[in-house]
Formats: sequence, structure tokens, C-alpha cells
Amino acid sequence: MSKAVVTGAAGFIGGRLSHRLLDDGWEVVGIDAFLDTYDPAEKLARAAGLVRRSGFTLATGHLTELNLEECLGGSEVVFHLAGRAGVRASFELESRYRRDNVDSTARLVSAAKRTASVRRLVYASSSSVYGDAPLPFSEDTATRPVSPYGASKLEAERICVEESDERLETIALRYFTVYGPGQRPDMGLRKFAEAAWTGQPITIFGDGSQSRDFTYVDDIVEATCRAARAPVAGVAVNVGGGSRVSLLAVIDLLAQITGRRLDVRHTDFARGDVRHTGADLTRAKRLLGFKATTPFREGYASEVQWVRSTLQEARRSA
Ligand SMILES: NC(=O)c1ccc[n+]([C@@H]2O[C@H](COP(=O)([O-])OP(=O)(O)OC[C@H]3O[C@@H](n4cnc5c(N)ncnc54)[C@H](O)[C@@H]3O)[C@@H](O)[C@H]2O)c1
Repeated sequence: MSKAVVTGAAGFIGGRLSHRLLDDGWEVVGIDAFLDTYDPAEKLARAAGLVRRSGFTLATGHLTELNLEECLGGSEVVFHLAGRAGVRASFELESRYRRDNVDSTARLVSAAKRTASVRRLVYASSSSVYGDAPLPFSEDTATRPVSPYGASKLEAERICVEESDERLETIALRYFTVYGPGQRPDMGLRKFAEAAWTGQPITIFGDGSQSRDFTYVDDIVEATCRAARAPVAGVAVNVGGGSRVSLLAVIDLLAQITGRRLDVRHTDFARGDVRHTGADLTRAKRLLGFKATTPFREGYASEVQWVRSTLQEARRSA
């Protein structure tokens, strides 16, 4: 049986990836510090769902503090998804973003190099490394992050990519806005759906013409699994959903899915938010054989239904 480490296993994407690896027959060691970036109850519930499964063990702690050689021993692949996510909060909490994203990655990569069994490290980087670059963002586009979050992801990505050698192969995946059931509560698509079901106003930063290359979480997980096997290393690869959707189009779709009239309000553009994101997926196709398969309409409908049942459950247990 193959063994892997998933850092950030109690998080939105790390949790989904851990389940997929267990389904595929991997033994998984999940690492998470249960940071209070959002309600830790969500992370605890996700971790509980994983701990119940055979083949999964949890190491609770921060990557700057844990005995990493002990956690990594016997694993062939490290999927490094732990990180402090979110653009807006990063302006106020720069030093925490540095500790959680950059210092943690440096310590993990050096522990992976010292652990004989580990052959490969897959890093969850971000489209935020590009800033407001011209579309589409190709991996050769100059990286100009416009937030401390984007800068920290870029620095951590460089640590991973530059350390790649014959001992430890590394690959960085630049995820484009990930959505789907379980999405983080600070992210727009989930907030919009919560507001729609509870009859609250929906706040949009700016006029709503900004657009994102939204990527369904199972497509992200598929690309991440492929990166563990791909015969390439020392590179960054975009992982996007394949089409751009404006926020106004998201709101139209949400009204259709919920059958509700939505109270949409506009406020100023938020600091650190870029106008558009769009991935050039040539490299993902060539190196990983990857192409996203979930249309936005379908993926968002499953997230909106998940939000509804989560709200209903919370009401029942209140
Ligand atoms: N969600 C997206 O749209 C998106 C887009 C691009 C990149 N990413 C990256 O993907 C990764 C996962 O994102 P997510 O949306 O699942 O976020 P998440 O916050 O749900 O998950 C991250 C998990 O990592 C843990 N963690 C963070 N720093 C840690 C550390 N230093 N040591 C131990 N545990 C730590 C947190 O407690 C959390 O459970 C992050 O690295 C993020 O930067 C996410």
C-alpha cells in the first residue's frame, strides 16, 4: 500500500483530497493545526470524518513545530495544502501569513529532503501569484502578486520549485478559485448562497463585472493526484476550471438554482482583489493530461444544495 502525507487535511481541499486518496487505496497521514482562520468546528468535523476511516491517521500541530521526520517517515508523497488562505485578511496579518505559508513550507521541504522514503512533494500554490496580469495567465507570465497572501504563496512556491532535485521531486500547482461542497466560509460563492437561502442581502465588491476561472474541487483533486505521478518536476502548473464567469453571471445562476429573488448590493472594490483571472491550461494538459470536467453550472448547483442542507442541519441542532 502506498502512503502519503496531506498537510492541511482538515481544510476544504485537503479534506477532499484525503478522502480521494483513501478511496484509491493510499494510507494517509493528515497534518493540521486547526488554525482559527474560520470556525474550527468545520475543520474538526472534517477531521472526524477522516479519522473514522481505516488507513487515516491525524497529526495535530503546526508545521513549524511538529516533529516532521516522524510524520513523514514511510510516506512516498507529500501533498502540501496547509496554508493560511484568503487575500483580504492578509493585509492585516502579514506576519502570520509568512509563518503559516513561507516558514512552514521551508521547514516541510527540508524535512522531506531528510526523509528517505519521500520522493515527491506537490505544493498547492495559487493564481494569486499573477496579480492583475493580462489574460490568460500562462506560467511564463511575470508574477506580480498584489497582496501579502499572493506574495507568500509565490515565495513558498519558489522554495518548493528551487529545491527540486533527484532526491526530492517537487511540483507546484497554481489553483484557480476553488469551489464546491465544503468551500471555506470566507469565500464569495458560499457567502452568496448562504445569503440567498437566508434572505440576507448579497454584497458584491465593485460592479460585478470582475470574473474568475472557478475550479470545481474534484477537478482540483484530480489534477493534484495526477501531479503525484507525472514524470515532471521543478515546475509550476496552472490548474483552472477552463472558463471565466463574472460575478453578475454567478448571481443570475444562483437566482435560477434557488428560485429566489436576490437582494444584491454593491460596495467598493476590495483591496487585493484582482479584476479577472483566467488560466492558460496548455501546460496542465501536456504535463498532467489534465482537463477539468465539471461545468460551472453543475458544480455550483451542488455547492448551493450543500449550503442549504448545512443551514437546515444547523437550524435543527440549534
Ligand atoms: N480555496 C481556493 O480557492 C484556493 C486557491 C488557490 C490556492 N489555495 C491553496 O490551497 C490550500 C488549501 O486551501 P483551502 O481553501 O482548503 O483552505 P483551508 O483553510 O480550508 O485549509 C487549510 C488548512 O491548513 C491548516 N493550516 C494552515 N497553515 C498551517 C500550518 N502552517 N501548519 C499546519 N496546518 C496549517 C488550516 O488549519 C486549514 O485546516 C491553501 O494552501 C491555499 O492557499 C486555495
